[in-house]
Amino acid sequence: MMKATAKANTNIALIKYWGKRDEKLFLPMNSSLSITLDKFYTITTVEFRKELDKDIFWFNNKQANKSDSNKVSRFLDNVRNLASVNFHAVVSSENVVPTAAGFASSASAFAALAAASTKALDLKLNEKELSILARQGSGSACRSIYGGYVEWKKGEREDGKDSVAFQILPEHDWNLSILSVMVASSQKAVPSRDGMKRTVETSPFYNGWLQTVDKDLEKAKEAIRVRNFESLGKVVEANALKMHATMLGAEPPILYWQSGTFEVFQEVQELRSQGISAFVTIDAGPNVKVLCMPQDELKVYETIITLPHVQNITICHPGSGLTYI
Ligand code: DP6
Repeated sequence: MMKATAKANTNIALIKYWGKRDEKLFLPMNSSLSITLDKFYTITTVEFRKELDKDIFWFNNKQANKSDSNKVSRFLDNVRNLASVNFHAVVSSENVVPTAAGFASSASAFAALAAASTKALDLKLNEKELSILARQGSGSACRSIYGGYVEWKKGEREDGKDSVAFQILPEHDWNLSILSVMVASSQKAVPSRDGMKRTVETSPFYNGWLQTVDKDLEKAKEAIRVRNFESLGKVVEANALKMHATMLGAEPPILYWQSGTFEVFQEVQELRSQGISAFVTIDAGPNVKVLCMPQDELKVYETIITLPHVQNITICHPGSGLTYI
């Protein structure tokens, strides 16, 4: 039977991937580092059927829109090439995101799709090969193959064979708390794909990003190695702010922050002045992830949840890599 189901967790970048050197192969300008999370995931079933004349994509029990369906079909073309087959597939994907947490889902989506589609065709890819494949659906998906703390090495080759993620520390070896804070948002955000392209092409600050991101990555890896939360938090927060600074210089400028984003950021600074070690990171949208030690997570939760623009908070911890169901 040409059918398989896989589950992948999403991930939050500690050192961000921002900018591509090759848009077709999803090759990044810089290496990045993430934690795979336990609470947000995608479960995807892929069934190839000889009688279909096109792919069919169900997303959260509804037929997906054209643009998402095209992304899935383009991705499956890579898989069909690998397997030398031309069958189409029915793909059904369920995104499990508690209480509409507003979490970007492309990372878990393409990691689960890579795993389910290749298993359905009995391709037997190892994790490295799956990471390279998932990357070609969405860059950050290459990190969601693995659990825990994960590095994505940007690689040098033009064919992308060395642009791959790997685990640097398993999820159970260092427990941290990641509070995913959803804030009320008004405007529709610029998709990260467009935001990074515009930044690379037009921001005078992008060079400053490239000149310092490797140093940030080394600091973060060293902090993880010696389990120093304070120094990890510092470099993680600074790296996120630096990424957003590159976007402010783009033409036209991109500002993902909204009132609630500032509110949470300022409250985290206030918590720090009271001696609680907490830091933020922010992706291509207004929501905020707050990092802290597990012993502080309730105090941080209780403080942040009272803020006027905060809609909900999901407390996450490092989660596992791919699983087959
Ligand atoms: C800010 O992986 O969603 O979250 O490769 O174009 O699909 P594409 O982009 P995507 O970008 C993620 C950007 C980020 C930082 C990160 O996750 O490293």
